[in-house]
Amino acid sequence: MATPFHPLRPCPPPVPIPARSGHEVAASASPTISSPQFKVKILHPVENVDLRLLLLENISQEAVAAFRAQGFHVDHRTKAMTEEELIATLPEYHAVGIRSKTKITARVIQAAAKLLVIGCFCIGTNQVDLSAAAQAGIPVFNSPFSNSRSVAELVMGELVALSRQLFERAHELRHGVWNKQSKGCWEVRGKTLGIVGYGHIGSQLSVLAEAFGIRVIFYDVLNIMPLGSARQVDSLSTLLSDADFVTLHVPELPETINMISQPQLALMKKGSYLINNSRGKVVDIPALIDALQSKHLAGAAVDVFPSEPGSNGAPFDDQLNSWATALRNTPNVILTPHIGGSTEEAQRLIGEEVAQSLTRYLDYGSTIGAVNFPEVDLRAMAQERGDYIRVCHVHRNQPGVLKQVNDALSPYNVEKQYSESKGEVAYVMADIADVSIEEVAMLRERISGTPANILTRFLA
Ligand SMILES: NC(=O)c1ccc[n+]([C@@H]2O[C@H](COP(=O)([O-])OP(=O)(O)OC[C@H]3O[C@@H](n4cnc5c(N)ncnc54)[C@H](O)[C@@H]3O)[C@@H](O)[C@H]2O)c1
Repeated sequence: MATPFHPLRPCPPPVPIPARSGHEVAASASPTISSPQFKVKILHPVENVDLRLLLLENISQEAVAAFRAQGFHVDHRTKAMTEEELIATLPEYHAVGIRSKTKITARVIQAAAKLLVIGCFCIGTNQVDLSAAAQAGIPVFNSPFSNSRSVAELVMGELVALSRQLFERAHELRHGVWNKQSKGCWEVRGKTLGIVGYGHIGSQLSVLAEAFGIRVIFYDVLNIMPLGSARQVDSLSTLLSDADFVTLHVPELPETINMISQPQLALMKKGSYLINNSRGKVVDIPALIDALQSKHLAGAAVDVFPSEPGSNGAPFDDQLNSWATALRNTPNVILTPHIGGSTEEAQRLIGEEVAQSLTRYLDYGSTIGAVNFPEVDLRAMAQERGDYIRVCHVHRNQPGVLKQVNDALSPYNVEKQYSESKGEVAYVMADIADVSIEEVAMLRERISGTPANILTRFLA
């Protein structure tokens, strides 16, 4: 299985995308990696040269421009589509880009006979039937980390706002009350920030906090190389008892649900602060309310909740979460509607990242970053080798398939080959030399005729 990407571990550099042949690259499109020594061979599907993409839910114009610069036909719609609309529309398209409102069900996937790839231009992928997509040979890509910096910056703002009681003073003055005071207000300089979860967000935050003169400690289940002067501690208890501010940046897992409850809050220093921008269930909120009301904690910022309203304007009340009124009435608590990652920059990055993933898959076969699919990639081919063909074969994960594929490839020189499986689906990519376009039809017939075949594509 592929090792999960971690921001502080080395990872292979992404292969930049050269433009499809016959198309000029726009200035904003990915650079080519051609150099005097190595010119990259530009690939595109042997069939389906005129790939059609449907982008729904007003996906960013940066993504539209990136696709058009690569020569794809793009239809852009501002709204989501219903299941019936998708069933009627998607059969025309090779790729679809959605956000969270469009549901790609098994019925939609079954109807979309030409569909090769799905791009979720957002963080989550719950709106797609991932298993049905994988079994139809369709990888699904998203952009889970494009908003890390936005979250880290919000935490920096919250550190200062909490330690200066900013929201209390601003609220009073809005209501006509002048209340200048310094008691209980602190600089963040020289204080200790405890970061729980030193991943994409936690590590970004570490750098920003040190620039403010804050001492950073962190706790993570993995041993991670600290950035700057940050220091990893060996237990959550050590972090809780040492930090003036505790901020949570872990995923929601069975072991992180209620990881901050009454015993952990009791370990925190009197007068310290808790910030949760991770997932709503990581903090036991009634226990947090008790710790705030007893003045054990001096304040908290909460951006994520166990139950969140489904749409803007909806009430945030006790029907949704039984403790909502108590939390809203607790002083020096900053409550925000899950906006940690909501910035225009994050949206733009999401557009660019998902557009690149779709293009890499359609033109180069790479599934690196796919959420439902075996992750496979091959290094770029050299341009002067005009007789290379790349075979991309998705099949059911069962014994004997590679032997059948390699029997079909055996008359040729297989320069590179890589295969990987995930659950019931496996994917093999191979670059073969000295094969003419005319021989591709015969190869296609042999490989796509194998019993476990799901999808066979050729790129040249
Ligand atoms: N508020 C928002 O709008 C918003 C936006 C983006 C992400 N998030 C959430 O922020 C969280 C962190 O995101 P990220 O991108 O940094 O994730 P990440 O996967 O890059 O990092 C998570 C880190 O937590 C560590 N971890 C896992 N279990 C742990 C445990 N039990 N104790 C200590 N450390 C543990 C992991 O090893 C990893 O280093 C996620 O829950 C994500 O859903 C919220």
